[in-house]
Amino acid sequence: MRNRRVTLINRPTDIPLPEHFSLDEVEIPALADGEFLVRNLFLSVDPAQRGWALAESNYSNPVPLGAAMRALAIGEVIASLDPEVNVGERLYGWFDWQEFCVCGRDKVLRYIDTSVVPLSGHASLLGINGMAAYLGLVQSGRPQEGDAILVSTAAGSVGSFVGQIARNLGCHPYGLTSTAEKVKVCTERYGYECAIPYSDQGWTLKLANVAQKGFNVFFDNVGGRFLDTALRQMAVGGRIVQCGTASVSSWANEPSGPRNEREILVRRLNWAGFVVFDHIAQFDHAAKVLTRWFAQGKIVYDEDICYGLEDAPSAISGLYAGSNNGKKLISLQ
Ligand SMILES: NC(=O)c1ccc[n+]([C@@H]2O[C@H](COP(=O)([O-])OP(=O)(O)OC[C@H]3O[C@@H](n4cnc5c(N)ncnc54)[C@H](OP(=O)(O)O)[C@@H]3O)[C@@H](O)[C@H]2O)c1
Repeated sequence: MRNRRVTLINRPTDIPLPEHFSLDEVEIPALADGEFLVRNLFLSVDPAQRGWALAESNYSNPVPLGAAMRALAIGEVIASLDPEVNVGERLYGWFDWQEFCVCGRDKVLRYIDTSVVPLSGHASLLGINGMAAYLGLVQSGRPQEGDAILVSTAAGSVGSFVGQIARNLGCHPYGLTSTAEKVKVCTERYGYECAIPYSDQGWTLKLANVAQKGFNVFFDNVGGRFLDTALRQMAVGGRIVQCGTASVSSWANEPSGPRNEREILVRRLNWAGFVVFDHIAQFDHAAKVLTRWFAQGKIVYDEDICYGLEDAPSAISGLYAGSNNGKKLISLQ
């Protein structure tokens, strides 16, 4: 049996483009004891893949050149030599950008139960996006009822959940996003009190007007000039959750900007880096809460699905162009 894969063939220095990938086909190796064969159904596209493709390791080692691109995916077990993993079982894990994956249980992040949340929702609401939103906000942001919560990439997958979670916790979420259409979806669908399109001239002034008493939490997915600006609108004792750095196009040269240490000092801010994979032990708890809210109609998720492995090479750069509406997935069904 053959396996089609999207492999990393050139290392990008910033955002991965189609020329950094290639499609190939290889023989599927025989299963060893304890292994099982997964057929991928949905491949996840994540901004973090940019970091995984770079030469410098971040919180994980770089993807080796010539290997299938590291990715999370939803797949179905079609053969198993692991007595605890049954054929027909559906899993969310590290199955990479390919049609099939031979793996062991160490690659599985969650076992999927579709009785409440449909299959693809396990790669967004109950995938790392929902987990990062819930655990990042609750554990690092420590929101109190009534808090003002600022969120960047507010219309994106993580941002859409942070807005709704903040609302469900009795807080007031405010968003930053790129376009008027995304502003609309933030306020009409994701629970935001208001969202500011940063493409508008004068957005920093609008942010200052919205802040009034200052933001108690900034859930930041972009860093750069957005962080520089937001720091000056934080309330005393505010918490910053650094969940992403999407606005920094390259780490090759050290980024520079305004010096902000005085803002941190004077406002007594707490600034915490957050990586969802440090919190795997809390995934089941977060999934329970998010599933309950989903069943109660208190949280929704959106997906932006394209079809076929051929779409994968341009998918990461598409995310950085902001072209996605909801969680970017590639369906192989
Ligand atoms: N730390 C963790 O464990 C963890 C886990 C999951 C995700 N994340 C981070 O969460 C963030 C969102 O991830 P996601 O999967 O939900 O993706 P997403 O928000 O659905 O898509 C990425 C969004 O980033 C925004 N963006 C891209 N380039 C930008 C730029 N130069 N300046 C400002 N905004 C830019 C765009 O939204 P606009 O159109 O609004 O600009 C785009 O739609 C990413 O930074 C990701 O790395 C972190």
